[in-house]
Amino acid sequence: MDKKTIFSGAQPTGYPHLGNYLGAFKNWSSLQDEYNCLYCVVDLHAITVRQVPAELRKASRNLLALYIACGLNPEKNIVYIQSHYTGHAELAWILNCFTYMGELGRMTQFKDKSSKGDTNINAGLFNYPVLQAADILLFGTHLVPVGEDQRQHLELARDVAIRFNNIYGDVFTVPEPYIAKSGAKIKSVTHPERKMSKSDEESSQIILLDAPDVVMRKFKRAVTDSETEIRYDVENKPGVSSLLEIYANTRGISMDDTLVEFDGKNYGYLKTAVGEAVVDIIINPIQARFNELSANPDYLDKVLKENAEKAAYIGNKILRKVKKKVGFIV
Ligand code: TRP
Repeated sequence: MDKKTIFSGAQPTGYPHLGNYLGAFKNWSSLQDEYNCLYCVVDLHAITVRQVPAELRKASRNLLALYIACGLNPEKNIVYIQSHYTGHAELAWILNCFTYMGELGRMTQFKDKSSKGDTNINAGLFNYPVLQAADILLFGTHLVPVGEDQRQHLELARDVAIRFNNIYGDVFTVPEPYIAKSGAKIKSVTHPERKMSKSDEESSQIILLDAPDVVMRKFKRAVTDSETEIRYDVENKPGVSSLLEIYANTRGISMDDTLVEFDGKNYGYLKTAVGEAVVDIIINPIQARFNELSANPDYLDKVLKENAEKAAYIGNKILRKVKKKVGFIV
């Protein structure tokens, strides 16, 4: 009963990659006993950018199946699709009326997206952080696992919660960022000085649904440096250091033990060993489970439906309170 609640969401756009797995998904399953966890596929957020309908539908199902394939137990965690529970959009509207234009105009993600010369700068893009605040506040969330890029949005969710509570009393739990004990920051394989990102070119990402031979090829082409010595030195040898980190993380061993394994070996050996470890330990098992789920759409439909109902059950308690407070007839 008094377990804390964790909420996180990911957009069904692009392809989840090794960085998403080692930095997030893998750790999520270790939280499932200690916390009440909700993991949402945020399709409402996704349409702030124009999407091809059939592709969005497919990407939403695939992301949910991938969550499960990565180890999230759909009986213990509420894994669901945002648009399946109308509470998100309802609360977002109400919170819009408690958020200032100035606050939203200061969001760096909005500023970045709207300054890229895109012609579709819609109001949804501007209000994106309010919907995100609604996602979080709807469930009395205590902790939100977020990367650096989402910190400002979480800060806004906190400000809006506090503002609302100051007017109406304690309705919302004020959420905190959850900093994972062991979240690895995986680097791009072509530009190892920056992190692996969905928005970069595909050759820079190890995509979880890449065929194993594609994964091997990407690792073999990984950018290293012009020396020959295998050494952990992020500053001067970002490529080699990143490969070492991926290996240590994948195998679940320390950096010291990793360095012992590669003592005196060459870069080619390192790349092959990292590729093989990733394929054997991560890619193959995830894809086997993913393919099983894809072959059984009835099961996935059932998970989708049941989990959206569970989310609604929790969310509606808070939503009802909010509606009463603002003066709706409930
Ligand atoms: N904006 C987040 C991202 O792009 C996704 C997201 C939507 C989210 N709602 C959320 C993350 C609530 C954490 C909590 O990564």
